[in-house]
Amino acid sequence: MKDGRQLTMGIESSCDETAIAVLADGRELLSNVISSQIKVHEAYGGVVPEIASRHHLHNIPFVFKQALDEAGVSVDEIDVIGVTAGPGLAGALLMGTAFAKAAAMAAGKPLIGVHHIQGHIMANLLEHPELEPPFLSLVVSGGHTQLVEVRGYNEFKVLGSTRDDAVGEAYDKVARVIGLGYPGGPKVDRLAREGDPHAIEFKRVYLEPGTLDFSFSGTKTGVINYMHSAEQRGEHPKAADVAASFQEAVLEVLVEKTMTALDITGYSGVAMAGGVSCNSRLREKMTEACAARGARLWMPFPVLCTDNGAMIAMAAYKKAQLGIWSDLHLDVWPGLDLETGLGKLDAGYDAHPARSDARKL
Ligand code: KG4
Ligand code: ZN
Repeated sequence: MKDGRQLTMGIESSCDETAIAVLADGRELLSNVISSQIKVHEAYGGVVPEIASRHHLHNIPFVFKQALDEAGVSVDEIDVIGVTAGPGLAGALLMGTAFAKAAAMAAGKPLIGVHHIQGHIMANLLEHPELEPPFLSLVVSGGHTQLVEVRGYNEFKVLGSTRDDAVGEAYDKVARVIGLGYPGGPKVDRLAREGDPHAIEFKRVYLEPGTLDFSFSGTKTGVINYMHSAEQRGEHPKAADVAASFQEAVLEVLVEKTMTALDITGYSGVAMAGGVSCNSRLREKMTEACAARGARLWMPFPVLCTDNGAMIAMAAYKKAQLGIWSDLHLDVWPGLDLETGLGKLDAGYDAHPARSDARKL
C-alpha cells in the first residue's frame, strides 16, 4: 500500500522474457520492466530452454530491483505478488515462481499464481478498464491459438484451439525458411508490408464446417514446399511476396473464425491477446471485419501484447479481488489448461505433499 493505493507486482518468466511490473489499484502501471533474451537465442534460431532458465536466474533480481525503483516503491509497500505458474518452459517457470515464493515469504506478502494466457487476455484491461466478462477473446501467441469465452476474470471456456501449430509458431518457422531468422513474427510483419498478399495463393485451412478449431501446419508446409521447389528450379521468389501471401492466408482464417465465434456466441465484440495480436495486418483486418458488422474490438497496446509483467499483475489483481489466492505450495505447470487447470494454482492445492520422517529416526 502506498498513498492509499493497492500495489500488485506481476512476475513473468515463462519463455525468454524476464519481466516484472508494479500496478497501482489495478489501473495505473507504475513500472513495466522487460529484459528480453532475444539477442542470446538469436544465434540458435529459437529459444533454448536451459539457456533461458539460466538467464532468468541471472536477470531476475536486477529486473525486480529496477521494477521497484522505477515505481518508486519498496517491497514492503507491495500488497500482492503475482507470478506466471504455467504454461511455459518448465525451467523458465521455475525461476520466476521460486523467486516469487522467496520474495513473498521474505516480505510476508500473499502470492497469486497466474495462468500465462489469462494474463495475455487481462492485458486488455490496462487500456480498456471498462471491459467486463463475459466476452470473447482471440488468443494468438507462440504457443497458443484459441478462441476463448471469458466467462469471468478467472473462468474460461475454450471454444476452439489449434490442432497442430500455434499461429506464432507458424510465423517463426516461415521466417526461418525465407531467411529472416528469429524472432520471426515481427520480421514477417515488417517485410510483408512491402509484398503483394495475393502473389501466391497459399492454402486456407478451415477444417470441417462448424468447428472453431484451427490448423496452420498445412499452410506452413505449403510455404516450405514452395520455397524448396523454387530453389530446385534455381528461382529466387521475392521474400516480401512470400511473407505477405503466407500472412494473408493465416490471418484470413483467424479473422473469419473469430467472426463465426461472434455469430455462435452472440457476443458484441472480441478482445485480442498474445504476441501475434501486435501484428499490424491482423490489427488492420480485425478492425475492418469488426467495423463491417458493428462489433467492438479490444486490443492491448502493442508492447503489452508480447510477454510482460503488467498483464500478470492485472490478472493477479483480478484474482485478489475475487479472493482467489495461492500459497507456498505453488508449483509450475508447463501444460496448464486454461479451462480445467486453474484450480491447481489455488491455495491448499498441494501437488507434492511433504512427508516428515522425523519420528522414525
Ligand atoms: O505471447 P508471446 O510473446 O509469447 C508466447 O506466449 O508464446 O508470443 C510470441 C509469438 C512469437 O511466435 C512471435 O513471433 C509472435 O508472437 N509475434 C508476432 C509479432 N510479434 C510477435 N507475430 C506476428 N507479427 C508480429 N508483429
Ligand atoms: Zn505469451
